[in-house]
Parts: sequence; C-alpha cells; structure tokens
Amino acid sequence: MEFGIFGWWLMLAALFQLSSIHACLREEREALLRLKASINSSYVYLFTSWNSSQEGRNCCDWESVVCDNTTGRVIELHLSYVRAPYQEVWYLNASLFLPFQELKYLDLSYNAISRWAPNEGFERLSGLSKLEVLDFSGNNFNESFLLSLGQVLSLKELYLRGIQRDRPINIPISELGRLKNLQELYLDGSYIDKSFLNKVGVMTYLNVLSIQYCGFNGSLPIVQGLCELMNLRELDLSHNDFEGILPSCLANMTQLRIFDISSNRFNGSIDLSPLPSLKPKLRFSPPSSHC
Ligand SMILES: *[C@@H]1O[C@H](CO)[C@@H](O)[C@H](O)[C@H]1NC(C)=O
Ligand SMILES: *[C@@H]1O[C@H](CO)[C@@H](O)[C@H](O)[C@H]1NC(C)=O
Ligand SMILES: *[C@@H]1O[C@H](CO)[C@@H](O)[C@H](O)[C@H]1NC(C)=O
Ligand SMILES: *[C@@H]1O[C@H](CO)[C@@H](O)[C@H](O)[C@H]1NC(C)=O
Ligand SMILES: *[C@@H]1O[C@H](CO)[C@@H](O)[C@H](O)[C@H]1NC(C)=O
Ligand SMILES: *[C@@H]1O[C@H](CO)[C@@H](O)[C@H](O)[C@H]1NC(C)=O
Ligand SMILES: *[C@@H]1O[C@H](CO)[C@@H](O)[C@H](O)[C@H]1NC(C)=O
Ligand SMILES: *[C@@H]1O[C@H](CO)[C@@H](O)[C@H](O)[C@H]1NC(C)=O
Repeated sequence: MEFGIFGWWLMLAALFQLSSIHACLREEREALLRLKASINSSYVYLFTSWNSSQEGRNCCDWESVVCDNTTGRVIELHLSYVRAPYQEVWYLNASLFLPFQELKYLDLSYNAISRWAPNEGFERLSGLSKLEVLDFSGNNFNESFLLSLGQVLSLKELYLRGIQRDRPINIPISELGRLKNLQELYLDGSYIDKSFLNKVGVMTYLNVLSIQYCGFNGSLPIVQGLCELMNLRELDLSHNDFEGILPSCLANMTQLRIFDISSNRFNGSIDLSPLPSLKPKLRFSPPSSHC
C-alpha cells in the first residue's frame, strides 16, 4: 500500500533507465546488422563486434558506432575504408540509415561508392533531421550522384575530398545553395569544373571553404563568386594554378582567420590591413619547384 502507484512508476522508470544504459535500441541494432550485410566487407577483421550474440547485444559498444550517453541512440557512424577497393561496386542504399533518427555524423569515405541504389539517394537522407556532418570523400562519383543533395537541410559540414580525378565534376551549386545551415565545405583533391567559382557566392553563410588541389586555373572570378562569401573564417585556395591579382574585395572578409593561397601564380599585391587577425596566418608562397 505504502509503495503506491507513484512508487511503481519510479521503479519502472529506473529499470527503463538501467536497460537503456546497457543496451541500444533493438531497431537500431537490427538496422546495423542490415547495414553490415549491405557493406559485405571483405575485411574479415572488421565488424566482428556487430553480431547478434548475447554478449554483443549492446550495439553502443560496437566498433565504429557512437551512441548518445543518456539516450543510447546512435549518433555517429564512422565507416571509412570499410570496403576493400577490389570489391564489386557498392550500390549505396540511403534507406539503410533511416532508422538512426538521431544520427549527427556519417562518415562513408573511401569505400569506392559510385552510385546509389535506384531511388535511394540523398532525398532519403533528408529524413534524418539531425544529420550535421557528412563525409563522402575518396569515393568516385559524378554529378548525378549529388542530385538531391540540397534536401539534407540539416547539414553543417560536407566533405567531398578526392571524389573525382579524371574529368572536372560539375558541383550542383544550386543544390548546395539550398543548404542554409552549411558552414563548412571541403572539396580538396577533387577535379572541379571552373563554373563552381562563378556561382559559389550563393552559399553566403559558409565559414570554411577549402579547395586545395582542385585543378583551378586562370584568374579568380569576382562577380557572384568568392566576394559574396563575407562570413568566411577559412579560405584555402592553395595548390591550384590561379594567376593574376587577388581581388581587393578579400579585404572585406572581416571574419577571415586563415587564408592560404600558396602554390599558385598570383602576382601583384592587395592591402589586407583591414584584416588584422589574418596577418599571422597568411601563407603566401610561390609554386614549389621540387616534389
Ligand atoms: C559479398 O561479397 C562476396 C565476395 O567477397 C560476393 O561473392 C557476394 O556476392 C557478396 N554478397 C552480396 C550480397 O553482395
Ligand atoms: C560478438 O561481439 C562481441 C562484442 O560486441 C564480442 O565480444 C564477441 O566475441 C563477438 N562474437 C563473435 C562470434 O564474433
Ligand atoms: C560518453 O561518456 C564517455 C565516458 O563515460 C565520454 O568519454 C564521452 O565523451 C561521452 N560522450 C558523449 C557524447 O557525451
Ligand atoms: C533499401 O533499404 C530499404 C531498407 O532496408 C529496403 O526496404 C529497400 O528495399 C532497399 N532498396 C533497394 C533498392 O535495395
Ligand atoms: C554518372 O555515373 C553513373 C554511374 O556510374 C552513370 O550511369 C552515368 O551515366 C554518369 N553520368 C554522367 C553524366 O557521366
Ligand atoms: C586552364 O586549363 C585548361 C585545361 O588544361 C586550359 O585549356 C585553359 O586554357 C587554362 N586556362 C587558363 C586561363 O590558363
Ligand atoms: C600578373 O599576371 C598576369 C597574368 O598572368 C599578367 O598579365 C600581368 O602582367 C602580371 N602582372 C605583374 C605585375 O607581374
Ligand atoms: C567592401 O564593402 C563595402 C561595403 O559593403 C563596399 O562598398 C565595397 O565596395 C567593398 N569593397 C570591395 C573591394 O568589394
């Protein structure tokens, strides 16, 4: 009698709390096992902890999985280099990730991904409203893979390093322009079509733009281009073949802290004195003659 309904309720709540500390959600565990089957990794030493045995029940302890400490929900998946380069093409199925409703961080870099399964592209990932960081670096795909990228509205950081080395890829900038939360964009080492620089200005909210080794040449376009990116904190243009003078509008980027233009062929000079915080970090060197 003394215990009362409230006491029972407390006890149930405590039990629930305990079980959620020791185990992940069943739906998420099952989804991880489906994902493992889809990855079908040839690396036998990977994913041994992703199993349905009794001792492996808590998927929060599985390798490459990070859960929220209090809710036990999967919040990060670190799946870089999980498929051997000699494996057959992985038709990536975005729906496999939908059970992870709290997912914030998804790294699928270096897995030789070149296409989505039919109707299973970025539009599906739009169902993950917490997804902030997405890394597709080191996969080899073309513009059609990036269709619907603009639907993943929660994205804050996007890594597309080394995605194309054979011919210039046309980054669908209108899609990127829809990502109003996107603050950091990394395209280093991808061969990017030059039109990107003429339109990059639509991403006015960007803080970091990194385009090292992107195969750009000629002079920096100004109209609609870089000069619109007034919120940049980091701008890395290094290791391209830019030439001519630096546009004076750069002096208006009052937030700029890191500005790397090394290994290009810029000449002339601009007055960057309006950017006092920049000076110690400015890296400006001629193209390296060795290496
Ligand atoms: C998994 O990979 C093996 C080769 O490593 C292949 O024979 C098999 O068909 C693949 N399974 C699926 C479902 O793709
Ligand atoms: C299953 O995973 C657990 C850890 O999650 C590990 O201790 C156990 O050895 C694994 N079992 C097999 C058969 O690999
Ligand atoms: C979860 O707890 C561990 C140690 O108990 C800690 O190292 C880790 O930073 C915590 N993670 C989060 C996301 O709070
Ligand atoms: C993608 O995965 C979902 C969820 O597991 C499944 O229902 C769907 O059939 C898969 N689609 C393809 C094309 O494999
Ligand atoms: C892009 O790649 C896909 C799959 O590899 C291919 O079917 C398609 O024709 C390619 N599109 C272009 C524009 O090259
Ligand atoms: C840029 O590189 C392309 C391809 O190598 C070349 O055709 C073009 O003339 C170059 N443009 C300038 C301005 O150097
Ligand atoms: C700077 O480079 C451009 C194009 O490469 C060239 O036309 C111009 O003469 C150069 N100016 C100086 C001051 O060297
Ligand atoms: C810098 O910004 C001011 C105020 O927005 C503008 O009038 C000026 O033209 C800009 N300077 C350059 C070089 O773009």
